[in-house]
Amino acid sequence: MLAHNVDFNLTRVCLECLFASSIYRIAVGSDGVRISMESALTARDRVGVQDFVLLENHTSEAAFIENLRKRFKENLIYTYIGSVLVSVNPYKDLEIYTKNHMERYRGVNFYEVSPHVYAVSDNSYRSMRTEHKDQCILISGESGAGKTEASKKILQYYAVTCPASDQVETVKDRLLQSNPVLEAFGNAKTLRNDNSSRFGKYMDIQFDFKGAPVGGHILNYLLEKSRVVHQNHGERNFHIFYQLIEGGEEDLLRRLGLERNPQQYQYLVKGNCPKVSSINDRSDWKVVRKALSVIGFSEDEVEELLNIIASVLHLGNIQYGGEDSGNAYITTDTQIKYLARLLGVDGLVLKEALTHKTIIAKGEELKSPLNLEQASSARDALSKAVYGRTFTWLVNKINVSLTYKNASVIGLLDIYGFEVFQHNSFEQFCINYCNEKLQQLFIELTLKSEQDEYEAEGITWEPVQYFNNKIICDLVEEKFKGIISILDEECLRPGDASDITFLEKLENTVGGHAHLTTHKLADGKTRKVMGREEFRLLHYAGEVNYNVNGFLDKNNDLLFRNLKEVMCMSDNKILTQCFDRAELKDSKRPETAATQFKTSLAKLMEILMSKEPSYVRCIKPNDAKQAGRFDDVLIRHQVKYLGLMENLRVRRAGFAYRRHYETFLQRYKSLCPETWPSWQGKLADGVSTLVKHLGYKPEEYKLGRSKIFIRFPKTLFATEDALETRKHSLGERVTYHMVLVDGCHLLSLRTVAWWRGILACRRAQRKRQAANTIRRFIKGFIYRHNERCPENEYFLDYVRYSFLMKLRRNLPKSVLDKSWPTAPTALIEASEQLRKLYMQNMVWGYCKRINPEWKHQLEQKMVASEIFKNKKDNYPQSVPKLFMGTRLNGEEINPKVLQSLGSEKMKYAVPVTKYDRKGYKARPRQLLLTSNCAVIVEEAKLKQRIDYAALKGISVSSLSDGVFVLHVPTEDKKQKGDVVLQSDHIIETLTKVAICADKANSININQGSITFTMGQGKEGIIDFTSGSELLVAKAKNGHLSVTAPRLNSR
Ligand SMILES: Nc1ncnc2c1ncn2[C@@H]1O[C@H](COP(=O)(O)OP(=O)(O)OP(=O)(O)O)[C@@H](O)[C@H]1O
Ligand SMILES: [Mg+2]
Repeated sequence: MLAHNVDFNLTRVCLECLFASSIYRIAVGSDGVRISMESALTARDRVGVQDFVLLENHTSEAAFIENLRKRFKENLIYTYIGSVLVSVNPYKDLEIYTKNHMERYRGVNFYEVSPHVYAVSDNSYRSMRTEHKDQCILISGESGAGKTEASKKILQYYAVTCPASDQVETVKDRLLQSNPVLEAFGNAKTLRNDNSSRFGKYMDIQFDFKGAPVGGHILNYLLEKSRVVHQNHGERNFHIFYQLIEGGEEDLLRRLGLERNPQQYQYLVKGNCPKVSSINDRSDWKVVRKALSVIGFSEDEVEELLNIIASVLHLGNIQYGGEDSGNAYITTDTQIKYLARLLGVDGLVLKEALTHKTIIAKGEELKSPLNLEQASSARDALSKAVYGRTFTWLVNKINVSLTYKNASVIGLLDIYGFEVFQHNSFEQFCINYCNEKLQQLFIELTLKSEQDEYEAEGITWEPVQYFNNKIICDLVEEKFKGIISILDEECLRPGDASDITFLEKLENTVGGHAHLTTHKLADGKTRKVMGREEFRLLHYAGEVNYNVNGFLDKNNDLLFRNLKEVMCMSDNKILTQCFDRAELKDSKRPETAATQFKTSLAKLMEILMSKEPSYVRCIKPNDAKQAGRFDDVLIRHQVKYLGLMENLRVRRAGFAYRRHYETFLQRYKSLCPETWPSWQGKLADGVSTLVKHLGYKPEEYKLGRSKIFIRFPKTLFATEDALETRKHSLGERVTYHMVLVDGCHLLSLRTVAWWRGILACRRAQRKRQAANTIRRFIKGFIYRHNERCPENEYFLDYVRYSFLMKLRRNLPKSVLDKSWPTAPTALIEASEQLRKLYMQNMVWGYCKRINPEWKHQLEQKMVASEIFKNKKDNYPQSVPKLFMGTRLNGEEINPKVLQSLGSEKMKYAVPVTKYDRKGYKARPRQLLLTSNCAVIVEEAKLKQRIDYAALKGISVSSLSDGVFVLHVPTEDKKQKGDVVLQSDHIIETLTKVAICADKANSININQGSITFTMGQGKEGIIDFTSGSELLVAKAKNGHLSVTAPRLNSR
């Protein structure tokens, strides 16, 4: 939201000074640096401040107007009040709306560039995109102040700068082309403005998720229908009538029964002003015709529409005959003929309806003739109703062509400003009531956003006194006792209600209200400036006298029933939509104009409240529509009526200026040795150091969470001036060199300016690039599942890059770590390859790092794994335990045994239990492994030696026991048969045997039982079962029974 960016940059003041003034011309002197600095200050003095919050004397209306004047003289038509844009109509084409200008404001921070309606547009657009909050831009100001022009500039800005596609182009065209159509039917030449909007307009511009304008929706308010039948001197009817007559093809005019001369039409001659020098009706007609096709009107629809426009002109030419009090009759039959054809109704029925009225009394339809005056007003009522309803139909039709759902929205409100004329009627009452409501919203939201910002920054909010105009809104709109209710009551009540009885009722009901008075109730002084038929409202902006004449009629806005009936019978397709038969059956009185307006305003407020608002306040510099003329009185009046001083007071209530620490430090860091050239610590500390160095007093500033708040503009100006001096001292060095080259100080100044220009360009370029990157990224995301193509290559590269970066941060730390980041679809294969490569590499590195002992250990573990993994129950328990070199050292083995082994090197020794072949008695033994044989030792005795070559095989169970059998050949007489042993380290022991004897393949793992030979051809059987604990014993069947403990691992 704008208020979040309530910020500005004095750079722009200086830049504006540079551009607006002829600084280069002034600046050269013997002390070039000093003079040029002074000239910058003079220029600042000349072009004023770009934000009113920087006015030292912010409560002075004179200072406010003086600042506007200074800037207006320099063609600087835009100035901020914080985030509110004040715009003064230049009444001439300024070169500030080019594509280059649009680019300059695109994606740039609000405060970095000079004030412009594009800055507001861009800011709203960015807030919509980044904060995902719908926006609205409220444009207000009096007639001719430039509201409609501003809204068109905003629309053009979006049309040019937002992303586009073919479909979007169509919508953009329709959005843009809706303007000439609505202006043709809803705008007219008035005394104040040659192209005055005679209706209020709220337009939603809808954007899709890519930020492209994809649709729109228009709400229209209170069209000034009375203009159809009457115009003040010097004013015209709605443009479309003149455009059709001036620009319509001969054929078309013939079909419509029209002549190419506006003077022929009663409805076009009241203002005596058919031609306006600034308007070219003929070329405007072409624009409107084309726009109608672009929006999607078929040829038939255009024809029907023009039939209606022509009908209104024919209606105006209907003349009545008859005495004043007698019955009226129509004297112009040709008009009826045309009307019957153009409206598709029966001529006689129409004629009858234009001279009679029907009323339903007690269920019976009564017809009574009209007198002259009544007939004329019935005819005019019909013209107004037909035109008014057609206008609403037109808006709806445009809306249909712009329909889009689920969009983010920026609303544009171009609505009438406060109006105070010599004679103020019902219309001014409605318009000023509307402004009262908008002011209420404006103050509430401005205050709220200020308060929110203070809260967010942790700065104490000091309550601001302001005038709450709710009291006036209530006076107008309150149920039962508000002015609208009283007016409605008078309109609806039977009897002789009149404008005067309405005035009396006001006096009786709300006469005591502080904001209302009437001629009768007023004091003597006020009475002198009030008519007897007037009531005065004390609006927030000032007093306005309203003349009650016509209030009842305008509020009733009645169309006789029989005229409605005729319209309901029309063949014209537009009119059938405008006049619904259901309306005739509805016995309820239609809502009055004021109530309808009140309801639509309440809806508008709801819409606006749901959005983040931005404001453009337009001012018209003079009544003569002249360029370069600044009429102080007129402008003071508008400043007051727009409530700008109040706005400034609220905005300046606490601190004049605020800016993010980073931006502040970046700009002023050169002014303090500790912060120059860069500050390494926290930003807040840097800013604190800087402002202390600059001598800021505690009451002059506050440090918030992310921003510095400066109370007075003068503090900031002093800092800005110090910066200028500093810059020039840098510039001086450049100057010195330049003087050496050609003695020209001017060049040095230009160099500085040039360099600043370059920096600004670079900054802008960076921002553009950033925006492009984001756009490409989003597009890529949408097309991410497609084959690589220009739309997605950036995104895919980014995905690749970020996956690789993530991978780099999350690579497995060890060979056992099997984690691996999940790859995006496009990279699954590559990721798998990478994983393999990385694993190989890690394994290789691991292998390189292992020492010989560890290597030996691992080799043994490998053998163990090959033999026992998934085959023997106690293998898993053995895995984490290191294999020992030996389980018995030299001292634990009898020296005689070692002696008898002679030169044979002992490789491993382990205590074992041997089971006798007869009786299976358990005997403690030692199993020694040498390089050639396995030896079973009983203390000093070498009980049995089994050469590896003779070792037939080794049997072991699949359970968790430690029993194993070494099989020897039966024919070997030296051997007494197979050996049944048990080791507490069976996996280790048998792995050693397998390695020493090279018998890894000879180890048999058996389920159930093992058969072995006992010598002399006898066989023994060992049965293995699972049980709770290890038990080895002779069973009754003579077998050796081994109960192995059950382990949880399998
Ligand atoms: N920014 C501008 N640059 C140049 N001329 C402008 C600008 N703004 C307004 N004008 C001129 O002022 C005229 C009136 O402006 P515009 O129609 O926007 O007024 P308005 O506030 O919409 O008035 P109304 O309430 O009567 O509709 C324009 O026709 C145009 O000539
Ligand atoms: Mg306008």
